[in-house]
Amino acid sequence: MAVRGLGVSFAGRAALSGVDLDVAGNALTVIVGRSGSGKTTLLRALNRLNECFDGCRTTGRVLYSLDGHPLDIHDRAFPVTELRRRVGMVFQTPNLLPLSIAANLTMPLRHVLGMGKAEAREATREALVAARLWDEVKDRLEAPAKTLSGGQAQRLCLARAMALEPDVLLLDEPAASLDFMAVRAIEELLSGLRERYALVVVSHGLGSAARMADHMVVMRRGQVSARFAAAELARGESLAQCMEDVF
Ligand SMILES: Nc1ncnc2c1ncn2[C@@H]1O[C@H](COP(=O)(O)OP(=O)(O)OP(=O)(O)O)[C@@H](O)[C@H]1O
Ligand SMILES: [Mg+2]
Repeated sequence: MAVRGLGVSFAGRAALSGVDLDVAGNALTVIVGRSGSGKTTLLRALNRLNECFDGCRTTGRVLYSLDGHPLDIHDRAFPVTELRRRVGMVFQTPNLLPLSIAANLTMPLRHVLGMGKAEAREATREALVAARLWDEVKDRLEAPAKTLSGGQAQRLCLARAMALEPDVLLLDEPAASLDFMAVRAIEELLSGLRERYALVVVSHGLGSAARMADHMVVMRRGQVSARFAAAELARGESLAQCMEDVF
């Protein structure tokens, strides 16, 4: 995906302006920045979710290849349902359905991908294994999803997003309700996922971001204030110094 000159405003107030971003396939792009700098808004711009808010206005282009043809995602020829299936998102706060753990996966699999019962059950198991949640829930799949802990709920949302087989996976703070060990586990998990997806991950943990990222983008007041490539991220000290100026 290629973002060019993106601007987003809510009720006339700019949340993003002049944002350029290239989302590479098979790579992990991490977005960092202060609270309110526009990270979530940028993620939502990639699958047109900002449009769900009244008074939101988007300008600029987001180019994405549909069947080999680069198309602006705002183009009428690009159905928004297709866009959202291809560009999956896991939100900052887990948004589970008030159903069982299993149904949170089988429902969308059956309704969005049109799978039969048995196929959906198998895809559910695979997604839970991939999200490293299977062992914790395999004996309670029919329990309400609301009985999960915060970190488990987040991994269930991740499993659900992956099960729908997107090309691009947007993750807003996937480590927000996780403990230290779980953060390391999710870093490992995400690092492995880049073999299958283009990943865009918002992270508050700078160390975590630097360990995982192929590219890092720093947002500041709705604009990109710096970009770092993996080689620069590996140089811990100079990165810390740079960050003081751009964060
Ligand atoms: N639906 C909305 N309606 C009005 N203003 C919004 C809306 N969504 C975001 N904003 C505003 O846009 C700006 C950027 O918000 P955004 O949620 O993108 O920040 P963020 O970088 O994700 O912050 P955090 O790290 O706290 O999650 C903020 O000033 C916010 O108040
Ligand atoms: Mg946010």
